[in-house]
Amino acid sequence: MSGGGAPDFFYREAHRLGYVARSAFKLMEIQKQYKVIKPGASVLDLGCAPGAWLQVACQNLGPLTKGGAIIGVDVKKVKVPTAHCDGRVQTFCGDVMKPVSEQLRGLLPQGKGYSVILSDMCPPVSGIRAKDTTLSCELGMRALTLALGEIRLAAAKKAVDSSLEAEEAPVYLEPDAREGMLQSGGNLVIKLLECEESQGFPKFCKEHFKKISWLRPKATRSSSTEIYLICKDLK
Ligand SMILES: C[S@@+](CC[C@H](N)C(=O)[O-])C[C@H]1O[C@@H](n2cnc3c(N)ncnc32)[C@H](O)[C@@H]1O
Repeated sequence: MSGGGAPDFFYREAHRLGYVARSAFKLMEIQKQYKVIKPGASVLDLGCAPGAWLQVACQNLGPLTKGGAIIGVDVKKVKVPTAHCDGRVQTFCGDVMKPVSEQLRGLLPQGKGYSVILSDMCPPVSGIRAKDTTLSCELGMRALTLALGEIRLAAAKKAVDSSLEAEEAPVYLEPDAREGMLQSGGNLVIKLLECEESQGFPKFCKEHFKKISWLRPKATRSSSTEIYLICKDLK
């Protein structure tokens, strides 16, 4: 958890405060600066294992009387942590790159879509930079597609790439995600590894969100190139 070296400050603090991973501090910093999770929010946490973001997200839902729900999904089996989580948190085991959106929609009470989508997904690091950044962008693009839906995303791509013909029919490669799962006014956070391709993400997002920011949290290890794209207020 501390990356194989000596336990660092964030690792020790996470342990002391009952968080299952140091990544808790990354979402805390995002939340402190951008207030992405409001009391009573419905949150989808993509790549939620071992569950530190579930803990921080739940702490920001407010009292039980406010309602709210958190659905976590990961390829690994995740037990909802006992500390900092309550009955509003559920997890399921699944591969986000496969058709999962019907399942994710079904898990949400009232099926109205999510007010927040978080993606802290990352591929197993191979150390081959080009491979790692490509896989990270694929996971990020999937999170964006699940949030916006392929129909909106195709329109945004067309708007930023004038070389695409106006009449060109979009090709729907992900039939489970034609319609997005993020509610209007909703917020999206996506982890990416910095590379030329990841710099293209804000261009698409600007078309649909009122505010776009990058954040490299203090808890990110100095050896990592991860960076978080924070998209606020879906138009
Ligand atoms: C950095 S960890 C997430 C840490 C988590 N936010 C926390 O605070 O505990 C990244 C996770 O993404 C998951 N992941 C990677 N690819 C995935 C996929 N295709 N579908 C679901 N989860 C995936 C990994 O299994 C891993 O658990």
